[in-house]
Amino acid sequence: MAAEWWRDAVFYEIYVRSFADSDGDGLGDLPGVRSRLPYLRELGVDAIWLTPFYPTPDADHGYDVADYVDVDLRFGTLADFDALLADAHALGLRVIVDIVPNHTSIAHPWFRERPEYYVWSDEVPNNWPSVFGGPAWSLDERTGRYYLHLFAPEQPDLDWHNEAVWHEFERILRFWLDRGVDGFRIDVAHGLFKDPELRDEREPFPVTAFSSDWRSAVDQPEVHPLYRSWRRLADTYDGDRVLVGEVVFSDPKRIAQYVRRDELQLAFNFTLLFAPWDAETIRRAIDGTLSALSDVGATATWVFENHDVPRLPTRFGGGADGLRRARAALLLLLALPGAAFVYAGQELGLEEGELDDADRQDPILARTGGARKGRDGCRIPFPWSVEGPGFGFTTAAPWLPMPASFGVLSSASQEADSASTLALCRAALRIRRELGGALQWVEIGPGALAFTRASVTCAVNVDGEPFELPDGEVVLASEPLSDNRLPAGAAAWLR
Ligand code: BGC
Repeated sequence: MAAEWWRDAVFYEIYVRSFADSDGDGLGDLPGVRSRLPYLRELGVDAIWLTPFYPTPDADHGYDVADYVDVDLRFGTLADFDALLADAHALGLRVIVDIVPNHTSIAHPWFRERPEYYVWSDEVPNNWPSVFGGPAWSLDERTGRYYLHLFAPEQPDLDWHNEAVWHEFERILRFWLDRGVDGFRIDVAHGLFKDPELRDEREPFPVTAFSSDWRSAVDQPEVHPLYRSWRRLADTYDGDRVLVGEVVFSDPKRIAQYVRRDELQLAFNFTLLFAPWDAETIRRAIDGTLSALSDVGATATWVFENHDVPRLPTRFGGGADGLRRARAALLLLLALPGAAFVYAGQELGLEEGELDDADRQDPILARTGGARKGRDGCRIPFPWSVEGPGFGFTTAAPWLPMPASFGVLSSASQEADSASTLALCRAALRIRRELGGALQWVEIGPGALAFTRASVTCAVNVDGEPFELPDGEVVLASEPLSDNRLPAGAAAWLR
């Protein structure tokens, strides 16, 4: 296997419960993913990232893990996992799995049998809030003490100052590495160690912000020796296994600390995901990222969508304008130097689905008394075929209702259309293989972005006047072009 394959890989995020249901219970599962691998191969991605499929009581859809070394029966079995991995490898696709080390499920046996693995206090010691609303401390009725949970009360935080926790996770990582996974996506990677003095956070808390910039209790220095030890462990395996941290800061310099040479290979960089559709902001995000990461010799990553934020066409204004911008953003994403993450459905231009509160399942809705709707809208299952209500995802009722608009957006209907977002994404992934080298900006004018990498130029008209494309043959365009001019909300690649 090629060394450092991850440096320019395209990772495809699969929210397992929403991708493909093989057994007719309305929930996606591992055999479902396995049956769709040929689609991913055809799409042209390099690796898939599977969100948690471990046994879970589902307080946060699998990010509350009750057993790190098994598969929840609703998603399949370990044998199903092995079969999926073998098939993926046979197709040349790598597989990374999601590891959730910040917290377990309250149903994990450790919570009762190894209370010393968690963070306790006799009284509520500070003002820390939960990301999902309400305080980050809950009373454990059995012991009469309070435990910490940065997320839901059903997700107690582990105490990483306890070395036994290190050993447990080493065993867990080995379990999956021995099975042959190509690496891990590390959930809440910046949060494992908390301020040991449990000092107050500064109020008011912008808990609605996706970024953890405002929290001072996380991002503690002790996390770096941990990641060095995980990197040493990963490096004892062949095949260049990769560690990708979910480090949620808006300043790339903070992210860079996690990807120094002997730590994680990659960390999510959400600067584009935080950016509005604005040329100056996007350019600053790109320059800031490239300079901070090159300072530590690391590769940049780029993300516009994931299972925690509204779908891109919706964020960029919705309707025809939103979709046009999201298509342009896809060409931008896939032209940038480094690793790119595509969230399942992004290649179809899926928009955020409207849902009744009664159908919503994200704990954020109830924890905030309805003030925040939660993340269900971007987790609606993947439409494979034109006919609802299951759209080829399931023969049963899908776990979240799928909107009628998913019929025309389904992969089947886009297959048949050479101008579809799916066709655009496929073509971009094919041509991307020719891209190489550093990014050189080409100055166009206000509202526009353009850069070259080796022989390919990527031009994006974010919101400026239509402009004449630079010299070269147009190999890909997100919109039909007239007179070689690029309209607002469109992007093109030239050779
Ligand atoms: C995951 C979320 C999850 C949270 C707690 C994250 O950052 O991406 O989906 O709710 O961690 O595990």
